[in-house]
Amino acid sequence: MLRSTAFRLIGIMLSLLLFTGCAGAVEEPDEPGLLLGFSQIGSESAWRIGNTRDIENSAEEYGISLMLENANQNQENQIDAIRRFIAYKVDVIAFSPIVEDGWDNVLMEAKEAGIPVVLVDRDIRTEKEGLTTCLIGADFYNEGVMAGQYLIRKADELGLEEVNIVEITGTQNSTPMEQRQAGFADTISSDPRMHILESIDGDFIKSRGAECMRYLLETYGEEIDVVYSHNDEMTLGALPEIEKTSMIPGKDIIIISIDAGQEAIDVLKDGRINCVVECTPNLGDELMEIVFKLKNGEEVEAVIHPTEQVFSDEMDVNSIAPRGY
Ligand code: AHR
Repeated sequence: MLRSTAFRLIGIMLSLLLFTGCAGAVEEPDEPGLLLGFSQIGSESAWRIGNTRDIENSAEEYGISLMLENANQNQENQIDAIRRFIAYKVDVIAFSPIVEDGWDNVLMEAKEAGIPVVLVDRDIRTEKEGLTTCLIGADFYNEGVMAGQYLIRKADELGLEEVNIVEITGTQNSTPMEQRQAGFADTISSDPRMHILESIDGDFIKSRGAECMRYLLETYGEEIDVVYSHNDEMTLGALPEIEKTSMIPGKDIIIISIDAGQEAIDVLKDGRINCVVECTPNLGDELMEIVFKLKNGEEVEAVIHPTEQVFSDEMDVNSIAPRGY
């Protein structure tokens, strides 16, 4: 629970003590501000840590009290957190679903309690109507498209006739994993030079990125022309594994990553990554705007995608401004 929430609770308790403890004291407790319950997936990446920090900062700026729970990469923990938010009667629930399936029951409970739910960063899969109000997050499919388009341009530039790709994916059954994979596959499918040798689950985690890369190098060795990794963390885990071989990442193997956190941009500047597609973690301001709108009973957009760009060796990488995450 955040400090701001704790202060709010202490404030309410003190007001209630005053209110109940002093006979004749008729002062009502102050109208409490808006209370937002937010269930975060975990701390698996610099992106995620930046996203948490951004939501905390925005809540403070907008004067919204935040109950923040970190689920440590566990869906059950997220479901428990949402139930606590319902029991606590927060004004709005927001969460970043670790995977797409398995939310119907708890979201029905939120709906029955009359608490609007906002999806942040990732989507859910459901047959039921009206469980959530709005999704604020990246267009992951387009990120995959931008990664694929870069690869086609790079293959043209290098005059490649065959392009063997290994893909290190994010968490299975999560929105960014599914859509980054689909956007990339759809884009390169019209180019007969492109072959995906294998897609392997790296769970968005650095150590898994390293493990996956070790396995891919053992299995395919110098056949590999391209590593397409679904996030920076896994890319940063994979690079030292490539460097243990005679191959040089960024030269002998084209490296494509997603997120564009500072560490990956620094590695792009060193020439060890060729392309990083941006995925911004800065979703806090949009979220707070939506919280206000929902509280006021206003209509909200069903989907809000931030604008994102591509950073690559096709540009002057030294002009890239500090990323902040
Ligand atoms: O859902 C967004 C993804 O999750 C980011 O790409 C990744 O770094 C994070 O863990």
